[in-house]
Order: sequence, then structure tokens, then C-alpha cells
Amino acid sequence: MCGIVGYIGKREAYPIIIKGLKRLEYRGYDSAGIALLNGDLKIMKKKGKVSDLEGTISGENLHSTIGIGHTRWATHGEPNDVNAHPHASSDGKLAIIHNGIIENYQSLKTELEIKGHKFKSETDSEVVIHLIEEIKKNNNCSLEEAVRLSLQEVVGAYAICILSSDDDKQLIAARKGSPLVIGVGDGEFFIASDATPIIEYTNNVVYLDDYEIAVIKNGKLTLKSVEDVPKTPFVHTLEMELESIEKGGFEHFMLKEIHEQPKSIRDCLRGRLLPKDNHLFLNGMSQYMNKFLNTDRLIFIACGTSWHAALVAEYLFEDIARVSVEVEYASEFRYRNPVIRETDVVIPISQSGETADTLAAIDLAKSKGATIFGVCNVVGSSIARASHAGAYIHAGPEIGVASTKAFTGQVTVLAMMALILGLKKGTLSESRYRELLFELDTIPEKIQKILEDAEPIKRIAETFQFAKNFLYLGRGYNFPVALEGALKLKEISYIHAEGYPAAEMKHGPIALIDEDMPVVFIATKDATYEKIISNIQEVKARKGKVIAIVTEGDKDIHNMAEYTVEIPKTDDCFIPLLSVIPLQLLSYYVAIYRGCNVDQPRNLAKSVTVE
Ligand code: M6R
Repeated sequence: MCGIVGYIGKREAYPIIIKGLKRLEYRGYDSAGIALLNGDLKIMKKKGKVSDLEGTISGENLHSTIGIGHTRWATHGEPNDVNAHPHASSDGKLAIIHNGIIENYQSLKTELEIKGHKFKSETDSEVVIHLIEEIKKNNNCSLEEAVRLSLQEVVGAYAICILSSDDDKQLIAARKGSPLVIGVGDGEFFIASDATPIIEYTNNVVYLDDYEIAVIKNGKLTLKSVEDVPKTPFVHTLEMELESIEKGGFEHFMLKEIHEQPKSIRDCLRGRLLPKDNHLFLNGMSQYMNKFLNTDRLIFIACGTSWHAALVAEYLFEDIARVSVEVEYASEFRYRNPVIRETDVVIPISQSGETADTLAAIDLAKSKGATIFGVCNVVGSSIARASHAGAYIHAGPEIGVASTKAFTGQVTVLAMMALILGLKKGTLSESRYRELLFELDTIPEKIQKILEDAEPIKRIAETFQFAKNFLYLGRGYNFPVALEGALKLKEISYIHAEGYPAAEMKHGPIALIDEDMPVVFIATKDATYEKIISNIQEVKARKGKVIAIVTEGDKDIHNMAEYTVEIPKTDDCFIPLLSVIPLQLLSYYVAIYRGCNVDQPRNLAKSVTVE
């Protein structure tokens, strides 16, 4: 949720930290702050964007080679200057930045107040630095030891970074449940919530594990557990390109990411799909094929857009591999005492790989002996590491808060998995398998074609920019797409939108339809085509305004609907990969016409690492 960044080395820390905060701003943007050490501890923080912070501190002496920075998504305490991080200890010598939630902060705070600590903010995070200060004083121990002992008392999730004015050659970081990456340079170290602030300096990174503490002191990194067990840092090489985290000439990350989809899907297919050789291979899946073949159900767990991809998977796996599928909101699954068997294959889907509810649901499923097969985008993320096996979607960094290319990447991986399983189980004939491999290979070009003609979508967006409500209707494979279209519109344009299976409309939502209600039908030529035409007629009879996403050349719906957007023809099972694209563009342009901040919509953060 929040973004944290730290630097220790020989360079000026301030520009590195500010730049890092801008890269992490997608994680939270209601306030920002930094702390620098140059003899004294200098803390500067401000409500608002990182640019607001920058504006207030220009002209100050910012010389320092060690510092930490934070961009906040508020949980405890409203967004204001005081609640912004970093937070300092009572004596002003220690500073902390924190991402996560300290669940027992209230009881810790009460105890510390009895001991004379005075708190400035309403945050849970400030409690941690006072606790460290108290333990350090009482035990007369090193900062490192005080951090370790304090973390034994803390309940909840944290990624923290701490510095002390007593030692300008030391930076301490720790994690449990919230991500933290350490970039290892030449005599310098970079700490961040994800790798994006790091890659322009080094490709060598260490992913901190839960309950690990990193101490960077005098140019050396050491790791230990909260239980005081030394750990060996394992250095991974990042394969991310710097261009992948920049806007590359687009006005917004979201638009860039929408337009990247032909490439991101091609990257996802690369080395895995070779239709001419009748080849489709997912390494992680082949290693766990027995589990897939011997289970009688797959359980998908996810949140938000990833949950919509899971719903597409339900259609894919039942249709192609004839295995029964359950699709669960991770947040409900984890608290529902679900029946989980050792034979179950549980498939978490997550772009970030850090979603707290999904991680907790994985822990639950794992504790019951299920096999976990993760579908993630971020390489090395917590969910990827918590899974027994998995498949990356290789979409590249997704920075826009509204997920776009991750959805199509997820559906692509899920489609590949269903095809592989269907062939192995014999529920998919060799000839149909071959046909589907060739068709899957054409998807990037077909997406490109849709993207090249965005004008009709822009015009629809302009027409409906002032609408108060939208209804999205689809059937079969297009039902999850309807949900996804509605979510996209809600989150970036703040227009109320509902997604429904088209046939369910007559059981309630039809009451909403009048001449002011735009109804987006995803009405491609597939198995449900005839049925959805009837649903369109039902809306028209009630004077609703019909916007239809149709297969190219469809004259019938063209004559019925006020607006149509054509997409190329494809097999039913790949339709979501195409039909979602106009809906992504529609939400983008509606938000632009309404003057909304597309990449940083209000109240949202890219990666939800708190419950
Ligand atoms: O990183 P994840 O895929 O686990 O994230 C899940 C949701 O938080 C995410 O899809 C969210 O709904 C997006 N803002 C949707 O655009």
C-alpha cells in the first residue's frame, strides 16, 4: 500500500530517494516524506503528492549519503503532514518508515504512554519507533538488537526501514507480510518496496523474507531472523528494463499499458507457444502435472481484476479440461473455514504477488496440504515465492492503478494451462488443440487492430462522460468481462457501474433502465449470441442506450444498438482477451473527459498489502 525507499552509500541520497518515491507513488499518494542524516536527523514530510513534498523542501541543505523516504496510503490516521512518515522517536534520534499494519499498536501505545512516551501522530507506525527506543534504553543494547526484540512484540504486517543519528553508516530494514527488496550496488545499497526504484542503479537484488532483518553497516549487508538466526543473502539478477517503468511518450501509464498488450501477450507466449511445432509448454505446470491430473477440482483465489481473470478460468477449465472449478474472493475464503483437501490444486492469481488477502488464503490452503500454483506478474513476489510452482504472466511492470495488461496476461496463462490440461486429460482433441494453438498465436495482432481504431470509443466516452450510472452485460466468457469493464469505469472515473450476466438483468437490474442509462453489451458472435440479442431488445424496449461490443461485420446488432464497437473474430475461449480492450479504452477516455487522475485514482493503491 505504502511505498518505502532507502539509500546508503557514497552518492547524494536525496535525489535517489525522491526519484524512488515517484516510482513508488502508484502504491499510495496521500502524503510523502523523507529523512536524511547529516549529523542530525532531518525529517521533511507533507500531505499530498511527492511533488508537493519536493516543493516545500527546495532550498534546504539536503546533503547526505543516507536517507529513507515514504509515500503513504493512509490506514491509521487521516492523510496530513503529521501522520505522514517518517516518524521519529521521543529523543528525535531514530526515524522509521513503515508499510503494513501493526495490529496490536493500541496496546503497545498504551504501555508506552504509561512509560512517558508522547505520540505526535495517530499512526500505528509511530508506535514501533517508540517501542524500539524504549527497548534499546531498557536493554542498553545496539539498535539492531532493539529492532529485533521489538519485532518480537509486534503483531501485524510490516516492511520497515530505520535510521539513527547515532550512526550514519547504518540502515536497518525488516519485513513480515509486506514486500521489501534490497538493491546491492558497489559499496551502496538501495531499499524499496519493489524493484522499480532500484533498477536504474543495479540489477542485483536481495528479496527479504518474512521475519528477516537486514542490517547494512559500513558497506556490508547482513541478514538475520527475528529469532536471531543468521541468514545468507541470496542475490537475484533482475531482468527488468528501465523503459518498462517509464511512460514512453504516453500521457498515462494506464494508456501505455493498454497499448502494450500486443507485446505483453507476445512476451507471455514467447518460448511457450509454437503452433507450427504443435508445442505448448509451461514448465511449472509440467512439474506438477500429476497434481493437476489427480485432482477433481481447482480452486482459484484472487481479488479485484485478478478475480475476474479467475472467473474466465472457470469457463476455460470446465469447458476445455472438464475439471470442476471454484472461484473465491481471497478475502472471503480465508475467513470462511472452507473445505480444502490435500488433493486440491489452489491457484492464486495476482498481478503484484503481494495482495495480503491472497497471501493469507494461500497460507490457509497450504496448511491443509493443498498444492499451490501461483499465477503472478511480479517476479520474486511474495505470492510467487509462497507457491509450490507457478507460471509468470511476463507482462512487465504494471504501474497504472487500474489493471489492464495484467488481466490479459493472466487470461493468456490460464488459457494455456487449460489447453495443456485438456490435451493431457483427453478432453480436448488433438485437432481442436492444434486449432486453438494457432488461434492463440493471432491474439496479439488482433488486439493491435482494436487499438489502432480507438476513435469510435473516444466518441462514445465523450457522449457518456456525464452519465451517473452504467450497466455492463455479458454472457458466457463475456460475463467476467462485463464485471471487469464495470470495475475499470468505477475505479478511474468514479461513475457507478454494475456488471451483470445479461440474463440476470430481468431478475432485478432491469428496473434501473431508462433513457439515461447507458448499457454496455459485450455481444460477440459466440455460443450465447442469439440469447444476448434478446437481452438487447429488452433494454431497448425500456429506452436504455445500448453500446455494443460486437464481432466485426455484425450487421444485426449494428442496426439495433445506438453505438457499436467492432472487434476481430476469435474462438469463444479467447474472446475475453479481445472484448476487454474496448472496455479498458472506454473507461480510460471517460475518465480523461471527466478530468480524473487516471493513474492515481482517489482512495486506491496499486498493491493492497493490508487486509
Ligand atoms: O495485485 P493483485 O492482482 O493481487 O491485485 C488485486 C486487486 O487489488 C487489483 O486487481 C485491483 O482490483 C485493481 N485496481 C483493478 O484494476
